[in-house]
Amino acid sequence: MTEYAVARLADLDEHTPLRVEAGNEELIIVRQGDQVRAFQGNCPHAGAPLDEGRVCGGLLICPWHKAAFAVDEGAVCEPPALTDLRRYKAWVKGDQVWVDDRPLPRARPPRHSDARCFVVLGAGAAGSAAVVTLLRHGFNGRLVWIDQERQPAYDRTALSKFVLAGQMAPDEVPMLLEPDDLRIGQLERRHAKVRSLNAQKRQLLLADGQRIDYDACLLATGAKAQRPDIPGRDLPGVFTLRSRADAAQLLDAVEPGKPVVIVGDSFIGLEAASALSEYGAKVHVIGRHEVPLAKQLGERIGRAIRALHARKGITFHGPTQVTAIEGDGQVEAVMLGSGERV
Ligand SMILES: Cc1cc2nc3c(=O)[nH]c(=O)nc-3n(C[C@H](O)[C@H](O)[C@H](O)COP(=O)(O)OP(=O)(O)OC[C@H]3O[C@@H](n4cnc5c(N)ncnc54)[C@H](O)[C@@H]3O)c2cc1C
Ligand code: FES
Repeated sequence: MTEYAVARLADLDEHTPLRVEAGNEELIIVRQGDQVRAFQGNCPHAGAPLDEGRVCGGLLICPWHKAAFAVDEGAVCEPPALTDLRRYKAWVKGDQVWVDDRPLPRARPPRHSDARCFVVLGAGAAGSAAVVTLLRHGFNGRLVWIDQERQPAYDRTALSKFVLAGQMAPDEVPMLLEPDDLRIGQLERRHAKVRSLNAQKRQLLLADGQRIDYDACLLATGAKAQRPDIPGRDLPGVFTLRSRADAAQLLDAVEPGKPVVIVGDSFIGLEAASALSEYGAKVHVIGRHEVPLAKQLGERIGRAIRALHARKGITFHGPTQVTAIEGDGQVEAVMLGSGERV
């Protein structure tokens, strides 16, 4: 055990965590009255420096995506983070704050024998949050977690930001949970597609014919990317973006200097436009609106976002609609209601 004097109590502000070093560990310390708590220095969601967050009403708020953690124990209270902060021993001697560089063991709730089976179907954000909550609160029955993706429970929001920009490989997308979060209770992970669910009999049927009987099942199967009803929408070279595999396929097809057409000018469309232009593609965005995101963010911000994308070399077409996608065995052009061919 190594102890470090890291700060003076008088220098700590109750609303602002302070970043300190304890050996090889980067920690934050948070003052509450005459007591001090020490936690890991970066957010478990995407690594934000927590010393840039704020403490308010007993919660530490992450500066990036506003996850909230209870300052007494570090328990996660609000997503998108799903895991508690690692806690370290901290104490005050005289006016000095001391910390120990070894993480404290995580508190485990008591577990009682339980014969029930709970199925969580889907390992996206919702399924991951449900599984970690059941485990953390001591569910000790059989917990079956099913997803059709081989390595699910990753943060798919990174796909349109970092993966399409070529800054992160599809298989490097951060996971939603840490392995430690799943090493408790009786968790059984299954890679399978669920074909049907019989709520009356409480049974799931998997695509390979296996049956699972359950006491409770959470359907967390998310959404599917929608292909609009346009002639040519299934031509090779037309993609949707939802999974790591989709992102990998899309990037395989994109070449720097070559045109890419994005249908849709909302959040994911514009993120993909920005990322692919960073990757080197010549990006065209087809939108139904004069000003993108005006409905969500207002005209002025929408115009500023459009101008920002235009400065990166992205061409906007619209307001218009795609009437057809053309190509001989492979996408070649997108036809617009305005008569334009892109
Ligand atoms: C490219 C992209 C960027 C995004 N960016 C943001 C962002 O910046 N901010 C934000 O707030 N949101 C963003 N989102 C939206 C966010 O990712 C979703 O709201 C979130 O993923 C929904 O989580 P979910 O758990 O409900 O569903 P999903 O994440 O879709 O998970 C559902 C899971 O169920 C599995 N499944 C479905 N059917 C079956 C079946 N029959 N058998 C087995 N498994 C099955 C799927 O494989 C999937 O893993 C983005 C989405 C995408 C696609
Ligand atoms: S990095 Fe903290 S909530 Fe995302």
